[in-house]
Amino acid sequence: MKIVIGLLSAVVFLCLSSQVSGQSKIVGGEDAANGAYPWMVALVKKAAPDPFQGQFCGGSLIHENWVLTAAHCVDSMKAEDIEVWVGAHDLSNTTGAERRDIRAIYIHENYFSDFSGVLYNDVAFLLLESPVDTITPVAYAKTPADVNAGDLVRAIGWGDTKSNPQFPTILQQVDVNIRSIAEANSLYGFDSLDSRHIAANASGKDSCQGDSGGPLFDADGDEGKPLVIGITSFGAGCAETEPGIYANVGNYKSLIDSFVTSSAIDDPDASIRGKGQPIANGSNRAKRSNGTFLPGRIRGGKSKATTFAIRNSDTSIPLSIESVSSSNKHFTVKRAPSYVFGGDRAAITVKFRAPQKNRKIKSRITVRTNDPVKPVFSFVIQAKSKRNIRLSKSRKIRFPGQGGTNFPGNVGGGNFGIDGSINWR
Ligand code: ARG
Repeated sequence: MKIVIGLLSAVVFLCLSSQVSGQSKIVGGEDAANGAYPWMVALVKKAAPDPFQGQFCGGSLIHENWVLTAAHCVDSMKAEDIEVWVGAHDLSNTTGAERRDIRAIYIHENYFSDFSGVLYNDVAFLLLESPVDTITPVAYAKTPADVNAGDLVRAIGWGDTKSNPQFPTILQQVDVNIRSIAEANSLYGFDSLDSRHIAANASGKDSCQGDSGGPLFDADGDEGKPLVIGITSFGAGCAETEPGIYANVGNYKSLIDSFVTSSAIDDPDASIRGKGQPIANGSNRAKRSNGTFLPGRIRGGKSKATTFAIRNSDTSIPLSIESVSSSNKHFTVKRAPSYVFGGDRAAITVKFRAPQKNRKIKSRITVRTNDPVKPVFSFVIQAKSKRNIRLSKSRKIRFPGQGGTNFPGNVGGGNFGIDGSINWR
């Protein structure tokens, strides 16, 4: 009982102190007018009891079938676990907003995070289960040069307000200034930000956790209407001296265009080919003719790569590759596309690393896609390994700097005066 009272007084204190501080909203923002941004999207976890509790990121409706969001929002999620609400204002009362399931998630092929947590190509697309044709999609930037340092732009979202209540039910908006990339790099104390990023903030004003994926936009950049220039990505805390960082939408114009023009809701149809002929789904015998059988014996410790083409036939919908995996550790997937546009093909590269044994090794390669007819595609691949011949005789090694032959791999270097023999095993 005491503990409960203690907790209650702590909550009361937090409430009072946030009222005193006067800080509210997105961070430092205000309630958006109801209906001001109908193309704004809330990404919601279906498992949650309601949209307010399930909201975890934002997004923008850029086409009746497509939502633009941040890769880090959906990176570890399954399409079936997410729903989107388009045109919501108050997440505790979504009447009038459009709810959609997600057909497939497409993450930028080169999305990654570096050692200091900087996100690159933090861009993803959500294909809606059915089009939203009652809401006009928002325009997006055509070139990165659509913004300049100092420009006043706006961020919106249902993210943390760092105030009471921390997570608002009403959509928030905040106006911030574009910072040059050079200034942002120096404020962060690194050199990682580049044309893939936009930086923006204002004193006490920023986007924050839960706003990610949502838009940064020029409120009248598209002939008096909003123009999305950024996707909320990351920051050092919120409303600190370091500005918020957004994916630079203008930098991805042609990629975004290729998604929105491949908009027919049709069924993708995957097929895989090896060197020669198509590889049958579920095949359990590797064949020489289709490249699933790596020719020759591969010496222990050496590796060999083989490539398969995954093709998306006769449709205008991109095929989303959810995963490509190998059942045996001697085969690893070296490269796999994250999507293949309709009518296109893309390469999957599988690498075999031979063990130090005479062995025949098989692995099942499993490809998971958004193809509703054939979501899982698998085939068997095989290679033979051969014991490496080990040298046990004594060999004379001359180190560099002595005018002798260079030791492979640039071992030593410098001016070692060693002229000995080692047992090369
Ligand atoms: N990564 C956050 C999210 O997932 C967005 C953080 C934005 N931070 C900032 N200071 N602007 O919601």
